[in-house]
Amino acid sequence: MTRLDLGVDLGRGLVLPNPIGVASGTFGYGFEFEQLVDIQRLGAIWTKGTTLLPRAGNPPPRVAETTGGMLNSIGLHNPGVEHVATVYAPRFAGWRVPVVVNVAGGGLEEYVAVVRRLEGVPGVAGIELNISCPNIAHGLDFGRDPAAAARVVEAVRAVTRLCLVVKLSPNVTAIAEVARAVEAAGADAISAVNTFVGMKVHLGVRRPVLPRGGTGGLSGPAIKPLALAAVAAVRAAVRVPVVGVGGISAAADALEFFVAGADAVQVGTASFADCGAALEVLEGCVAYAARHRLGRLTELRWTPPSDRVESPPTPTSVR
Ligand SMILES: Cc1cc2nc3c(=O)[nH]c(=O)nc-3n(C[C@H](O)[C@H](O)[C@H](O)COP(=O)(O)O)c2cc1C
Repeated sequence: MTRLDLGVDLGRGLVLPNPIGVASGTFGYGFEFEQLVDIQRLGAIWTKGTTLLPRAGNPPPRVAETTGGMLNSIGLHNPGVEHVATVYAPRFAGWRVPVVVNVAGGGLEEYVAVVRRLEGVPGVAGIELNISCPNIAHGLDFGRDPAAAARVVEAVRAVTRLCLVVKLSPNVTAIAEVARAVEAAGADAISAVNTFVGMKVHLGVRRPVLPRGGTGGLSGPAIKPLALAAVAAVRAAVRVPVVGVGGISAAADALEFFVAGADAVQVGTASFADCGAALEVLEGCVAYAARHRLGRLTELRWTPPSDRVESPPTPTSVR
């Protein structure tokens, strides 16, 4: 009988016990769900985006339901890195499930300061760098420009020995270019993708449902085909492990991400409807692997045909 090996090595000592985790911003810091589900069976908890100082986030309304998904403009509501390091991390340290702290920042200095504060803190298993944050100095998201993305990853790499997973924004023309840039800058792994910019309109009042600019981040089943394409593009562009995220709510969804090239996955919006969704995804993947006699879920990976078509030799007569 084939033995299923669920472990995923993301680098620098971060080995996930299984490939099914919960996505940043959809599962708090884990303990909020401790009484409801057996969080220790998860492959990883990817925490809410954490900034240098506490943030109250945007005033409501900051979420809206859409067809097949939801929009959010939470505005990085979090208690700040000091609280995470001194109050939450000691709890993480007693858990079996690895906790990867998602880090956000308004500028390069903030990313560096947050990661530096988390360095060597027991209970912090790794860093997920959310580069979809607006760059206060230059207006554009770090994640939209390969050079800016590389700069922030390089700066953070210099201050941490923890596994550094860089989370890409899908709101770009060529995600593969950003992936290559962050890999070259020192990312140990890449997670893809964050939410897509979207809008919901209230026709009755002839305006967007979300205030401020009217837009929010779209997540949920509606984005799964887009996320799968992004994961396949990233997989083809880099050698480091890829963590797939976007619209996973059942085991079949996760398995599709393994086909597209993921080494691990995160369940996000689905946890709002059912906080046990990620564990159900895990059980479904394990059952599928047993039925199909897989040794690892990455055996499902599809290899795209090479796009490097050999040029035919030029006939000497027309040279
Ligand atoms: C309410 C909400 C808050 C989120 N907050 C964060 C965050 O703080 N940092 C981050 O990197 N991603 C954040 N995300 C994005 C998710 O981690 C995930 O990338 C995205 O929702 C796509 O996955 P899904 O379709 O399974 O939800 C958030 C998503 C939602 C729905």
